[in-house]
Amino acid sequence: MNASCDIDSPEQFGSLDKEGMMELVLNLPGQMAHALESGRTLNLPHLSAAQILHLGMGGSAMAGHLLRAHLRDELAIPYEINQSYDIPAWAGSRTLAIAVSYSGETEETLTALDKAARKGCQVICVASGGSLRQRALAMGAPFIEVPSGYPPRAALGHLHGALLAALEKTGIAPPHDKEITETIALLESLREEWHPRVPLEKNEAKRLATRIAGKVPIVFGSSDASAAVAYRWKTQFNENGKSLCYTERFPELNHNEIVGWAHSFIPQKAFHVCFLRDSGEPEPIKTRIDFTEEIISGKTTTDHLWSRGTSALAKLMSLVFLGDLASTYLALLYGTNPTSIDVITEMKKRLSTLSKGKK
Ligand code: F6R
Repeated sequence: MNASCDIDSPEQFGSLDKEGMMELVLNLPGQMAHALESGRTLNLPHLSAAQILHLGMGGSAMAGHLLRAHLRDELAIPYEINQSYDIPAWAGSRTLAIAVSYSGETEETLTALDKAARKGCQVICVASGGSLRQRALAMGAPFIEVPSGYPPRAALGHLHGALLAALEKTGIAPPHDKEITETIALLESLREEWHPRVPLEKNEAKRLATRIAGKVPIVFGSSDASAAVAYRWKTQFNENGKSLCYTERFPELNHNEIVGWAHSFIPQKAFHVCFLRDSGEPEPIKTRIDFTEEIISGKTTTDHLWSRGTSALAKLMSLVFLGDLASTYLALLYGTNPTSIDVITEMKKRLSTLSKGKK
């Protein structure tokens, strides 16, 4: 077990957080502001599409999950996230395939893009460079470049902004400048509340990390939007916090998972359940959450984390920000570097040896 950091002593963070994940996470509002500016200069033709197929993995898929959740009440066409080498049979000339790979080198995304191009899909590519940029140039497809040098999961503001701008400029989504501006202002004030310099007893992000430390977080979304955020929390607790984490959502969990909680034959103290909440929840959802809390709180610890702000994007990003910070504090409590993801790098190396061997 590594020595954990005192999360109330930010001067100690550097010994573990060598690549500065905390700074990157804290800069989510800065990234969104940068993306808003870059989006204004983006030039894309108007497109007519019947579906959007977002090709991407990991952090690059996440930008799609969150954008889909953000635009759920606005988009007139379905937005599917494709996290594999294959693409669905329905993809064709009426499909807009958006290939997103922050590094530009993810083989599932590149393979899926080749398949989409062969099926005649309309294509847009988003990356910081790499092979995806080359592919876009070779195909004559629009390429949106995001700033390089980030771990992909820490480039969420850039990726979300680039994707949103792409949908706006192609005429698929309306403009969102006002909503983005509100969200940036909210995140700037939340950054003050949850900043490393704010002590544990007043800092919701630190408090959440300390309650999760030593347990497996289980995150429940209470709506389509917060289900997407729950998935972001899972991936951030996995990669930053080096922790297992599982997610479920209301109302679906009331049709299956709740039975496991009510009757489990194994100890449930190893879990910490996070309910992602919103003040606009409909009555039946509130009743479901209250009932579920009654069942679970007798068995293990729970927390209810409330979204902030008024617009769909502000609510979504406020919870994303809380999870991003809590997962980084968790890494420090565990005495580990929040940026390192050795096992993913190792896996990618093994796969690239495999594909080189085939050439
Ligand atoms: C690393 C991370 C990963 C990557 C994934 C795909 O920070 O978040 O989940 O996003 O391995 O790589 P990219 O995004 O470069 O296509």
